[in-house]
Amino acid sequence: MMSTKTVYRVAVIGGDGIGPEVLREGQKALAAVAQKDGRFSFEFTEFPWGCEYYLKTGKMMPEDGIETLSHFDAIYLGAVGYPGVPDHISLRDLLLRIRHDFDQYVNLRPVKLLKGAPCPLVGITEKDIDMVFIRENSEGEYAGSGAWLYPGTPRETVIQNGVFSRFGTERIMRYAYELAKKEHRSLTSISKGNALNYSMVFWDQIFAELGKEYPEVETHSYLVDAASMFMVKDPKRYQVVVCSNLFGDILTDLGAAISGGMGLAAGANLNPERTYPSMFEPIHGSAPDIAGTGKANPLASIWSASQMLDFFGHPEWGRRLLAIIEAMLVEKTILTPDMGGTATTSEVGDEVVKRIEEA
Ligand SMILES: NC(=O)c1ccc[n+]([C@@H]2O[C@H](COP(=O)([O-])OP(=O)(O)OC[C@H]3O[C@@H](n4cnc5c(N)ncnc54)[C@H](O)[C@@H]3O)[C@@H](O)[C@H]2O)c1
Repeated sequence: MMSTKTVYRVAVIGGDGIGPEVLREGQKALAAVAQKDGRFSFEFTEFPWGCEYYLKTGKMMPEDGIETLSHFDAIYLGAVGYPGVPDHISLRDLLLRIRHDFDQYVNLRPVKLLKGAPCPLVGITEKDIDMVFIRENSEGEYAGSGAWLYPGTPRETVIQNGVFSRFGTERIMRYAYELAKKEHRSLTSISKGNALNYSMVFWDQIFAELGKEYPEVETHSYLVDAASMFMVKDPKRYQVVVCSNLFGDILTDLGAAISGGMGLAAGANLNPERTYPSMFEPIHGSAPDIAGTGKANPLASIWSASQMLDFFGHPEWGRRLLAIIEAMLVEKTILTPDMGGTATTSEVGDEVVKRIEEA
């Protein structure tokens, strides 16, 4: 009889520094989930792209890299960037290129304080921090539009444009409204209409316009400066949050800081229409300071693996992986040094696998 098992083809780009170290543990977790479940399996194909590849070839990935990746169901990415290659090259020619060319316009970042995770805020518990950021991921301040005029002269001038199209702004807000509606949660838009008199006035206007189609969704709108303050002083006011590329980038690092640190922060870059593969990654960088020491925390990359399981239609497994992470944080026996433990990256991964097998 022919097997009906679904095979998920995943392109693995470990990238630089701790990227490959943490992804290895995420792959182990995904393979264990598939083994335990029995209805699906993962086929991983590794690509050695990143800064080392750049130093050898002058490119972050081959010319046909995007075409190669287009045949996969998902991309699993570690981290990109390393001393010796300018960050604007490494980021733009690999990570941002994939996000852009595959129209991964939703950057979905959970900011959720799990039980047992360290939180620097006084008097705040896991009940107070449970939000999901929907960051616009295809245009805005990171559209790469601008000019460098008269370089090296006294008149040297740079222009960096923010690009906000009606198409791009409406689709990210619609995604956020739909999520808030589905989950019966409030939706907060973060902008800066008082100072950015074109882009953010437009953003606020579209947020209000679309809101009329979703009368059941409770909405709030904050300026980004006040929003940052509230994230620290009163995080429970946020549930689903929608914001531009730049604001989302910054606020989700703040989100990571209040919900356990960089070693626990995951993010998904989604092409919701599934025309192209989506990409799952921990949001931290390559951490050159601890690369190769076995100290990297793999839980962020395992959390992003759980987002991949959600996206593939296995939310029960996504939830189970999160529950395993939470249990390990509460027990505090097998954790990496950033979480106050003494375990290595692979010991944490092995423990996750063991718990999946026992699940
Ligand atoms: N998505 C990405 O690929 C991405 C994101 C951010 C930065 N970067 C790049 O990474 C490089 C280093 O950047 P950075 O130092 O600003 O940020 P970083 O996230 O690499 O490190 C910041 C701090 O957090 C710690 N840290 C990060 N991840 C950790 C983990 N999993 N476990 C334990 N500790 C962890 C590091 O040791 C470091 O002290 C730069 O080249 C930068 O451009 C890439």
